[in-house]
Amino acid sequence: MQIIGHRGASGHAPENTLASFQKALDFKVDMVELDVRLCKTGELVLMHDKDVERTTNGHGEVSDLTLAELKKLDSGEGQKIPTLIEVIDLVNRQVPIIIELKGEGTARPAVQTIHRYVKESGYSNSDFIVSSFRHNELATVRRLDPNINVATLWWNLPIDVNKLDPMIIDARLSILTSEIVKEAQAAGRRVHAFVGNEMSEIKEAKSLGVDAIHTDYPDRAQKIL
Ligand code: G3P
Ligand code: MG
Repeated sequence: MQIIGHRGASGHAPENTLASFQKALDFKVDMVELDVRLCKTGELVLMHDKDVERTTNGHGEVSDLTLAELKKLDSGEGQKIPTLIEVIDLVNRQVPIIIELKGEGTARPAVQTIHRYVKESGYSNSDFIVSSFRHNELATVRRLDPNINVATLWWNLPIDVNKLDPMIIDARLSILTSEIVKEAQAAGRRVHAFVGNEMSEIKEAKSLGVDAIHTDYPDRAQKIL
């Protein structure tokens, strides 16, 4: 079972910050996952929530704030909100990056960003996976470039393992069963589970036979594997 650093190694550093991704790399994760939204000036920035209240000292919605305004905010431990580009440059092809599209309208700029790295910087499609609960955004990704790896996210049952013909089914751990995992894998898909932070959850993911687990604590998962 592979380990995905969820929002970096967000049990050890402020989530979705450069420090968090550096920690994840230091833990030698197999992949990292991050959440993107569009800010007012059109850049993709890392932010899980619609607004900045929970994770910074600022106020307001990401879509109402410019990159310059977002960059003034404190994410804790001296960290700032990074752009997607800053994280791609930090990770520097060491592991694949799962780009979770949180906000509406994020598909096109995410595809443009991937294209830029593939065409200009020697990256390949295997360096990126685009995931989302917003399956309409993933459909846009598919339409713009069918070769980009896609993961459909599932919070509730039923899971349609074949919707959008994804490379990966990425589901909430508590809704997964070994039957679903086997069905997806028999259809040639990978199965990822989110989020396993407790040892019991990581063990459960392993016993279900998933291909990878998202965790805020890669070090815990490594103790089990
Ligand atoms: O990509 C899996 C996981 O990150 C989805 O949930 O809320 O942590 O973005 P969330
Ligand atoms: Mg996420």
